[in-house]
Amino acid sequence: MRVIAFHNLKGGVGKTAAAVNIAYLAAESGVPTLLWDLDAQGAASWYLGEAPDIVGEKAARLVKGKTPVGQMIQPTAYDRLDLIPAHPSFRNLDLRLEKDGDKHALRDWLKPLSEDYGLIVLDCPPSLSRLAEQILETADQVFVPIIPSWLSLNSWEQLVEFANEKKMGHKKMHPFLSMVDRRKKVHQEILATKKGPLKGRMHAFIPYASDVEKMGENRCPVDRIRARGPAAIAYRLLWNEVRKVTRI
Ligand SMILES: Nc1ncnc2c1ncn2[C@@H]1O[C@H](COP(=O)(O)OP(=O)(O)O)[C@@H](O)[C@H]1O
Ligand SMILES: [Mg+2]
Repeated sequence: MRVIAFHNLKGGVGKTAAAVNIAYLAAESGVPTLLWDLDAQGAASWYLGEAPDIVGEKAARLVKGKTPVGQMIQPTAYDRLDLIPAHPSFRNLDLRLEKDGDKHALRDWLKPLSEDYGLIVLDCPPSLSRLAEQILETADQVFVPIIPSWLSLNSWEQLVEFANEKKMGHKKMHPFLSMVDRRKKVHQEILATKKGPLKGRMHAFIPYASDVEKMGENRCPVDRIRARGPAAIAYRLLWNEVRKVTRI
């Protein structure tokens, strides 16, 4: 079983869009996949058409340390793709992790799932919290969507610094460009740059595309909206690369 995470300390950069589409493509290509929506806002759960309240009470108990993660899993409309929906109590996961001082809680929660899944995808809240620390530690690979602006490069550098501070190294962190609008000069410049903080970035990048926005309305992955559209094609290229990097 492999664990991957989509993380960035900024919100609105395309983490959830990538997590949902990559989890979908993984499942579609035959890998039994579980997507865990760790963001209390529940966008990933929304995209997959789940009603977050069904497991509400169970999720609250996980935060209190009583329920194994497995009991919160729900099937989705797609073969081989399951979901742990978000719950408002996930906001308190940080407090719980802080209080327990248990450095491997997330890893321990996931361990029993290895018999059932080939891949776990973590959709992360935007923060550098205790939870983020455990995510960075537990995930085999961390994929970091970055909107091409000079300011976003800062947040990437901060994440690298954070990982280094925590002695996790940053080798498992892979930036990729997200919401790329080729009409914008700065986007073109950053896309063309082979140097600087993003020099090891992934080749695949996600264009700014209306199909991604439509996920909120249609409540499904972009592949089900327009499989031959630019966004669906870009996520396929990203999935191919994720698969190689993660050795799935
Ligand atoms: N490639 C894209 N093209 C157009 N809109 C996008 C794209 N990626 C994300 N969005 C939109 O931007 C918003 C934030 O995306 P989301 O994936 O939820 O970001 P995050 O999880 O980082 O907060 C959503 O409304 C989403 O529809
Ligand atoms: Mg999100």
